[in-house]
Amino acid sequence: MFKHIEQFAKRGKTPLLVVPFWKGKKGAEAAAPIGAFEKEISTPIDHGDFKGDLSETTLYYNNGSRVLLLGLGDKEKVLLESLRNAFSAACFFARSKKIVDLSIVIPDCKDHSAEKITAAVAEGFLLSNYSFDQLKSEAIKKEPTQLIKTVDLIGCSKKAFEEAKKFEKIVKGVYLARDLANGNADDITPQELGRQAKLIEKEFEGVKAQVHDKKWIEKEKMGLLLAVNRGSNRDPAFIVLEYKGNPKSKDVTVVVGKGVTYDTGGLNLKPTGFMETMKCDMSGAACALGTIVAAASLKLKKNVTAVIPTTENGIDATSYKPGDVYTSYLGKTVEITNTDAEGRLILADALAWTCKNLKPSRIIDFATLTGAVVVALGDDVSGLMGTNKGLEEALFKAGEETCERVWPLPLYDVFFEHLKSDVADIANCGTGRQAGSITAALFLKEFVEKDVPWAHLDIAGTAFLKGAKNYRPKGGTGVGVRLMIELLENLS
Ligand code: BES
Ligand code: ZN
Ligand code: ZN
Repeated sequence: MFKHIEQFAKRGKTPLLVVPFWKGKKGAEAAAPIGAFEKEISTPIDHGDFKGDLSETTLYYNNGSRVLLLGLGDKEKVLLESLRNAFSAACFFARSKKIVDLSIVIPDCKDHSAEKITAAVAEGFLLSNYSFDQLKSEAIKKEPTQLIKTVDLIGCSKKAFEEAKKFEKIVKGVYLARDLANGNADDITPQELGRQAKLIEKEFEGVKAQVHDKKWIEKEKMGLLLAVNRGSNRDPAFIVLEYKGNPKSKDVTVVVGKGVTYDTGGLNLKPTGFMETMKCDMSGAACALGTIVAAASLKLKKNVTAVIPTTENGIDATSYKPGDVYTSYLGKTVEITNTDAEGRLILADALAWTCKNLKPSRIIDFATLTGAVVVALGDDVSGLMGTNKGLEEALFKAGEETCERVWPLPLYDVFFEHLKSDVADIANCGTGRQAGSITAALFLKEFVEKDVPWAHLDIAGTAFLKGAKNYRPKGGTGVGVRLMIELLENLS
């Protein structure tokens, strides 16, 4: 994808040259040293047609070549996210013209290092160079999607260019997570997630996959995963995908991902309007797999293990029943008060199993867990809950860096009242709608060993969008992969 051209003067002929501009007081001003070329392409600026507003684009022709003037907005306080968004706009512009090769002049900016700027350009660009076409036939034959193939990055240092190359690897994990969330629920089954884990093992050095079947899950007595699975005609699976980037170290970060391949709600069936996007309910699992792909592609010198409990939450005569009690892997009994609160059940078994068997240094779980988090934080911010201040702060910082933002919700004991059961050790959900995301997390907390740092990310709002937003497409966003890589890189 990316090629390096050190100086503007050394650029070759290109189907499209993207030139960034700041919004200046006396009209737009070039955001990188482009010498006399600035004068050559000044017509739209002189006419006041192009102002340099953030993500503003104006196409201009110079010597028979296309030049895209790209606005970056105010020079004074530049956010990396603004750069991502601007270069996302440039990518979509190029795609709309079916341009497949182009060149980008990398902006200069005093607020951020050249490495960070180049990374943000690459991120905005590559995150926008995605299309999910597997389920189209007619439209795709008529008008095949053209993605951008090569981009010359002009004017950055060698070191900064490495950041762009690095992101080419990370984005593989993001694309995989998006593809899996966008795929048909009848294709992306628990078995398919297992097959994907095996493919990742084959492709990357240092990766080992174990895909456990229903027999193994029964032997391990994961009563909650099995309960959720009863309404489905497909077996559950329990996937453990390990990447050892630092075999000498005992430190291991475990990413647990909710893998409900379709959530009908079970006997507490979801109504029309709430079920249609529920193929996305394995986005936590997708994030866990994507994280391993990204970490292994980068050859990150860290150990990461993905743990994925996966099943459909279907509906059938054999479905698990509201009012019945099931025994978890940990031994605690759980009264099912709502079969639609299934994510916390399969995660409970996975968290307890992870604590007992993997000696985790920290656990981060990703789950499309509650509609309540969408009400609280919308689709730009994931809910963060947990038991360890340090881990929460590290995730918050990684969220700010990547703009995969997370925001804390409190796990006060008072909320635990909601989960009291008269017939079992604990109920899987409260009766009212109060503090729904928090009670879900408090349920999970019961299954995590006290001395293991644990954080839970509720990605129900951020994993799957109703409409595209800048570089995040409609449908699966692949949220969590960039966040996890940033977190892992920052670990000392
Ligand atoms: N998978 C859903 C949560 C969800 C909602 C994901 C919207 C993505 C978008 C989860 O299993 C669920 O159904 N949660 C219930 C919990 C309730 C029964 C306590 C909810 O949020 O309504
Ligand atoms: Zn549900
Ligand atoms: Zn669910």
